[in-house]
Amino acid sequence: MSETVKYLLDETRIPRDWYNIVADLPRGPEPVLHPGTLQPIGPSDLEPLFPMALIAQEVATERHIEIPGPVRDVYRQWRPTPLFRARRLERALDTPAHIYYKYEGVSPAGSHKPNTAVAQAFYNAEAGVKRLTTETGAGQWGSSLAYAGALFGLDVQVFMVRVSFDQKPYRRALMEAWGAECIPSPSPRTNSGRQILATHPDSSGSLGIAISEAVEVAAQNDDTKYALGSVLNHVLLHQTIIGQEAMEQMAMAGEAPDIIVGCTGGGSNFAGIAFPFIGAALRAGSSIKVVACEPAACPSLTRGTYAYDFGDTGHLTPLVKMHTLGSAFVPPGFHAGGLRYHGMAPLVSLVADLGLLEARAYTQNACFAAGLQFARTEGILPAPEANHAVRGAIDEALRCKEEGVGRTILFNLCGHGHFDMQAYIDYGAGRLEDREYDPALLQAALEALPAVA
Ligand SMILES: Cc1ncc(COP(=O)(O)O)c(C=O)c1O
Repeated sequence: MSETVKYLLDETRIPRDWYNIVADLPRGPEPVLHPGTLQPIGPSDLEPLFPMALIAQEVATERHIEIPGPVRDVYRQWRPTPLFRARRLERALDTPAHIYYKYEGVSPAGSHKPNTAVAQAFYNAEAGVKRLTTETGAGQWGSSLAYAGALFGLDVQVFMVRVSFDQKPYRRALMEAWGAECIPSPSPRTNSGRQILATHPDSSGSLGIAISEAVEVAAQNDDTKYALGSVLNHVLLHQTIIGQEAMEQMAMAGEAPDIIVGCTGGGSNFAGIAFPFIGAALRAGSSIKVVACEPAACPSLTRGTYAYDFGDTGHLTPLVKMHTLGSAFVPPGFHAGGLRYHGMAPLVSLVADLGLLEARAYTQNACFAAGLQFARTEGILPAPEANHAVRGAIDEALRCKEEGVGRTILFNLCGHGHFDMQAYIDYGAGRLEDREYDPALLQAALEALPAVA
């Protein structure tokens, strides 16, 4: 029997198209609504924020969308990413399961985020845009856009959630190394930031607030557009190269996954690995078990409502139908900053509503325990966000052991944790609390959801 650990593809195997799951779903996504009128919006309403090519992808229905040559050329720097068989973890768990992971931490920024950052920077540069604004929680997205901006000659301004700005000076330094400006949010630069600071001068910030600031700057400057690192259809689309490569690599291994696992913040890395497999199953009239792992402190899929909501705290963004905890919901502090978002991607939410995924919520200590077990067997130290997927995959493998059934599990190891060592230090010192969200806050945030007819 082959003892292969890594399944590697040649650069020529980088997919030529992104995969659009809308073509294979039994029903399409709900329309996006204008924040003022609550009526469906047209492409021109989004033009102040995004270039037309990305708006077209946002509403695209065709199954395949060609990846432009210059984007594929940049992907060559780190793609195709390796697929590993976690043989050492399997032995440590003494499980009959076969565990595979797709490792996105080999990108320059250390996660899956450059897959879309490069595409977004390309389309903006092509449209003559000079500057991009964005938000970042953990710093992975901000640094990915900083890198992509440097390649395509764009200035990049990143509003970084205050608590992460203070906790993660090295992520900030990485953004600055690639030439971006990194501003702690809430900031006095924008109306949205000033309003929050007036009432909460010590605000630790949130992704929803940072999005409001970045959107405001883009909307007010003709040469500036906004880039989002997750949630939107075109972002999920760009991430599907992960799953498409994984399909070919699983075929090299002579196996097909029975279970696919990913962590979910806004839903992009999960969609990236899972959507091509879900689409193939839908086309074949079969089914596949897909597990979305989210933080118990910010559980949009397991505790949220499927409803129209704003994407940001300041209510500047259009409304989308998604699983949401309410835009007023502020999760308690925990170490997976990239998963602290009140909503879930509309397409992941639709897939959940169609019964095509299972969602699980995990507390952070359980996730860090899984991450360390993984590091001590496979060697790679996962990002705190990715630890949720590691937890989910280990739990599935342990269930196989209990049931005496050897299933094949594939999970997305979406990033490494080299800039997250404070989180590991805190975990090692027993300082991490499994903080619950405040149910009264959730109730109030859900009651404040916009009334859409
Ligand atoms: C390493 C990592 N994983 C996951 C996420 C969550 O985003 P998404 O659910 O869009 O993959 C983030 C977001 O910042 C991240 O940095």
